[in-house]
Order: sequence, then structure tokens, then C-alpha cells
Amino acid sequence: MGNCLVVVGLQWGDEGKGKVVDLLSKDADIVVRYQGGANAGHTIVYQGQKVILHLLPSGILSPNTKCVIGQGVVVDPEALLEEINTLCSMGVDVVPERLLVSHVATCVMPYHKTLDTLREKRAGARIGTTCRGIGPAYEDLFSRKGIRLCDLLDKDTLKGRLSDILEEKNALIGFFGGEQIRLDEIVERFHSFGLALKPFFGDASLFLKDALDSSKRVLFESAQGTLLDVLHGTYPYVTSSLCIAQACFALCGVPPPPDYKVLGVTKAYTTRVGLGPFPTEDHGEYGESIRQRGYEYGSTTGRPRRCGVLDLPLLRYAVSLNGVKRIALMKTDVLSSMPVRVCTAYRHGNETLTSIHPSLVSNLKLSPIIEEMEGWSAPLIGQELHPSLVSFIRTIEAQLQSRVGIVSTGPGREDAVFIFDVWT
Ligand code: IMP
Repeated sequence: MGNCLVVVGLQWGDEGKGKVVDLLSKDADIVVRYQGGANAGHTIVYQGQKVILHLLPSGILSPNTKCVIGQGVVVDPEALLEEINTLCSMGVDVVPERLLVSHVATCVMPYHKTLDTLREKRAGARIGTTCRGIGPAYEDLFSRKGIRLCDLLDKDTLKGRLSDILEEKNALIGFFGGEQIRLDEIVERFHSFGLALKPFFGDASLFLKDALDSSKRVLFESAQGTLLDVLHGTYPYVTSSLCIAQACFALCGVPPPPDYKVLGVTKAYTTRVGLGPFPTEDHGEYGESIRQRGYEYGSTTGRPRRCGVLDLPLLRYAVSLNGVKRIALMKTDVLSSMPVRVCTAYRHGNETLTSIHPSLVSNLKLSPIIEEMEGWSAPLIGQELHPSLVSFIRTIEAQLQSRVGIVSTGPGREDAVFIFDVWT
């Protein structure tokens, strides 16, 4: 049995990673978030209630699992405190024994959210971000202007650093016509957030290294998806972090264990929020049916998601990039009693492309080759997967050279079929 599993999205996010991690957490000692921030929204149905997690790892709902937020995550301290309080009020134990937050993770500050929002308002410059300040926070991390969580603890040092940083930020905010941010307002607030979060702070890197060395079972949970990765996705319509599986080791500061496994998560169709290329998007009734039946609205922003057909050429790219050999196939119930369509290749002039780099998707004039497969009235007949769904799975496995280990057949925890143990 392996002791390290990375769960990665193979599409443009919202694949259902939250549910997969929630299901697998009971077998994990530790669940780690390694990138992104409160732009993510992992929806989980817990004791009949819908819970949306933005920053906390989805393992937080399994009482015996310890959760870690690594230093590659950009943390909005206010949002994190709110999430902790909401979960506590639902009876979930979010205490320092269960949650470790890297003390050197970068903070998302109010000026990051302001700048993200102001930029999105400029015609022609839009990416369709979540306006949660993610891009500007990562910019600051890399230009060494970031405030780290540990910096919130000493008020005088925080004030000194912020007065320098704010001068530049306010100039930029002024350029975009936004409202200036006052130093005294944020120093007090963020110092108090720091003190409230302090009991959770620690050296995540060291903790994970020790855990892996002592064969604890560690699950790394990515946010967003491979096609939104800043280096490997549909640039510039991407998020600002590395979302691919192997990034977890670099971002958390731990060496990859020799036998780690990667589980790729995909829906039975494709969705995307925000702007950017989406060759198999369906603007008609088919896409609309998926949106309604799958309740495809952004869990962070509520925006309607763009919906379309499963894109095997792009999935092939994502599978190869992440070294995926096992797959979780999500939301098969949404396609019940609907035509089941898959894009098997693209036509480009006289060429047929079965795998493609996302950067080419926006540059080339591609027409997707879409095939229709036998559908299913429901994913399950009794305890067994519907034979047409089994054929659909076999097609995916053959095309992606991977095995489907988990099939999700509905929104609840109980609506899932485990075909084999994905940790092994
Ligand atoms: P940002 O991450 O807020 O900067 O947004 C950049 C792009 O990533 C936009 O297209 C967002 O809609 C998309 N995005 C960010 N987070 C998520 C997510 O959790 N699910 C799906 N799309 C996301």
C-alpha cells in the first residue's frame, strides 16, 4: 500500500476534487493543500448539508485526519478565520491538533483584492478571475513584497513593511481609479488576524518530511486544474499558481517519495469558469442541460460555468503531464438519459490531432471531432455500473492509457463506486 497520493484536476478546475479528497481522507493521516488560495471552492455534502471549502483542505471533515496548508498557498487570513468559525459552528473540530498552517505562507491583503477587481474592470484586460486577489498576491511573493503569516505577529514590523508596500500599491490603485487603502486600518486588523491564527502556525515542510519518513499516509490536494496552471495551461487565461501534481513537492518543500501515486480527476464532461479557449464548449441546449442538471455554477463566485463535451485530446495532455495512471470519473449521473458525447480528436486542416498543447488551442483553428456513445438511464443498476457507462469508462481508459479507479454516481458521500484501491 502506497503512502503518498496526489489528487490533481485534469481540466479547468471544478472536477470534483473536493468530494474525492473527502472520500479518501478517511484512509489518510494527513491532507495537504499546496497551492492557490480562496479562489478555490470545493463543494462537499456533509451530513446532508452543503459545505464549500475555500482554503481548508477537504480532509477537515474526517475527524482523524490532520490538515496542512502549505507555504505555496496564498492565505487570506480573514477568509480562513471565517471558514474555521463556520465549520466549528457545524460541529467540525477545527483545532490546532487538526490543522497546521505554514507560518511562511503569503497573505492575501486587501490591496491584492482591490487590484484584482480593478484590473478585471478594465475592458480588454480581463481574464475572468475570481477577484480574490490571487494573482496580485503571487506577484508580491515573487517580487519579494509579500507579507507572510508570521509577519502579522509583530505589529511594529508589520507597520514598517506595510507603510513601504502601501505607498506603491496606493499609487497603482490610484492609476486604476480605485479608493486608497489606509495603513492604520489594515495594521490593526491584520495583526489581530495573525494573533487569532497563531495557534495553527508551524513549519509545514518539516512536519510533512517527518510524516513521510515515518510512513504516514499523506494526501496532497490540488486546487484549480491542469489547464489553469500558470506554466502549463491555456495561458494567459489561467490562475497564478502551479496546479500540476509534481508542484506539491516543490511548493511544500518535501522530496517526492519514490512510490508516490497521482490520481487525476475529471468530470464525464467539461466545464470552465472565466474567459479563455474551450474548444468543446456547447453554447446550445446540450450545454444548458448539463449546466442545469449538474448545477454548474461557480462555488466561489456563483458565475454560471461554461459547459461542453469531454475533451480527450486535452485530457491526454493532462494525463501525460501529471504522470497519471489512475482516474476518478465524476458526475456520471448528470449525463443520465442524455446523449453521451466525447471529443476524440481535433481536425486541423488535413491533420487529425489526438493530443494537443493547451497553448495551441487558442491559436489554431480547430474543429473537435465529436462521437456519440450509447447513454445510460442511471449510472447504476442495483449495485452494478450500467453497461453503457462501463463502455464509456473502457473508452476513456483505452484513450488515456490509465485506469478508472473511482466513479462518482451522485453528489453524496455514498454515491461512489470504488473499482480498485487508488493508493496502491
Ligand atoms: P484567479 O485564480 O482568481 O486569478 O482566476 C484565474 C482563472 O482561474 C479564472 O478563469 C477563474 O475562473 C479560474 N479559477 C480560479 N479558481 C478556480 C477554481 O477553483 N475552479 C475553477 N476555476 C477557477
